[in-house]
Amino acid sequence: MTTPKKLFIKTYGCQMNVYDSERMSEALGEQGYVATDTPDDADMILLNTCHIRERAAEKVYSELGRYRGLKEAKPDLKIGVAGCVAQAEGAEIMRRQPLVDLVVGPQSYHRLPQMEAQVRTGVRALDTDFPEEDKFEALKARPKARRAPAAFLTVQEGCDKFCAFCVVPYTRGAEVSRPVDRILTEARDLVDRGVRELTLLGQNVNAYHGAGPDGDWTLAKLIWALNDVDGLERIRFTTSHPNDMTDELIEAHASCPKLMPYLHLPVQSGSDRILKRMNRSHTAESYLRLIERLRAARPDILMSGDFIVGFPEETEEDFQATLNLIEAVGYGYAYTFKYSTRPGTPAAERAQVPEDVKDERLKRIQALITQQQQDLQQSMVGRELTVLFEKPGRFEGQMGGKSEYLHAVHVMAPDAKPGDMARVRITESVRNSLKGVLI
Ligand code: 5AD
Ligand code: SF4
Repeated sequence: MTTPKKLFIKTYGCQMNVYDSERMSEALGEQGYVATDTPDDADMILLNTCHIRERAAEKVYSELGRYRGLKEAKPDLKIGVAGCVAQAEGAEIMRRQPLVDLVVGPQSYHRLPQMEAQVRTGVRALDTDFPEEDKFEALKARPKARRAPAAFLTVQEGCDKFCAFCVVPYTRGAEVSRPVDRILTEARDLVDRGVRELTLLGQNVNAYHGAGPDGDWTLAKLIWALNDVDGLERIRFTTSHPNDMTDELIEAHASCPKLMPYLHLPVQSGSDRILKRMNRSHTAESYLRLIERLRAARPDILMSGDFIVGFPEETEEDFQATLNLIEAVGYGYAYTFKYSTRPGTPAAERAQVPEDVKDERLKRIQALITQQQQDLQQSMVGRELTVLFEKPGRFEGQMGGKSEYLHAVHVMAPDAKPGDMARVRITESVRNSLKGVLI
């Protein structure tokens, strides 16, 4: 038997990259690779990169630089760059960094096995096409190994919205939805391998419109079909755009038993002036009305959001409108970013907000968000929740898992195993998690 080659993948950025890294690892499994969690003994290192914010490329170059010694010690070591930086700057990476053997974009990684074979012969490989064929169709069936209880499943990729700050429409391309039968097959397969919770992924997941047996299906229809999959207990989806939040999807939050009461719905700003400049095609008011409708359908739904501070031309008044919107919504989670210039996007050309102003606004928005998150987490104390156990905790007999609302929960449950679900009374809110007892 030949000894397997070892693959080390480092994943940056969003959950979609996490999913892609799994699929790339599986594709290279066909070439005889097994995963390793350190670059030191790897035969191939792959960086699965993110291009969403500034200095993305610099981070990649500095990470690559660290592998120089490894490559000198082991000339057979192959180094690859995947993901959105590869898509945006692949040729430049090849030119600037001779350590790199392989560059593969997010839409062409099904070709990794051939590319790997090529680099083994000493010929560098670059593929940043948006191929005609669907990579998910071209990838072989997923292996049968046992899985952790919570998994991601990419159902849609790309974006046609062109927010003025965002590189995604350029790096991931136009919106494409996977066909319904493929998704249901993959979901059933994951459930057979131990998955109990699925998070459906897409850059614009609620714009899903994949081919079904009777025409295109919506995301709501797909969720209802997944609701019928025996053994699957929980469904989530991310990331959504406010303008694609249909009545049907809101209604699914009211009545679909397996759909969890959690929604990540980025708004980016609370100022209509800035929203217009961002090309978001909605107002602060329409976003707030939407949340009212969601809460009428599912009163306990926990809202999550993304915010950008210091977008070009953002004034103190605009920023205050964002703080007001946050006060009005009450977020369970929110992610805040300083605007960063992305070359090639429309906002890059506009008058920039000084860095110290951005820093100061980021501090203020983060203080507000942290307070809201903690208050909401604290409000869980005394409640009875359902926890899906994912892995043993730090102490003997302790299990860690997630509540319906995605809070981490730790419970003494010596007889429980990952994948079990239990009713738990929450007793305490600690820094980043809750503690509870079995009921
Ligand atoms: N600068 C700062 N934040 C950005 N995001 C996307 N592009 C930029 C940018 N140029 C944020 C948005 C988006 C999240 C994934 O990243 O808030 O929702
Ligand atoms: Fe980027 Fe806007 Fe598309 Fe989200 S909706 S991926 S922020 S362009």
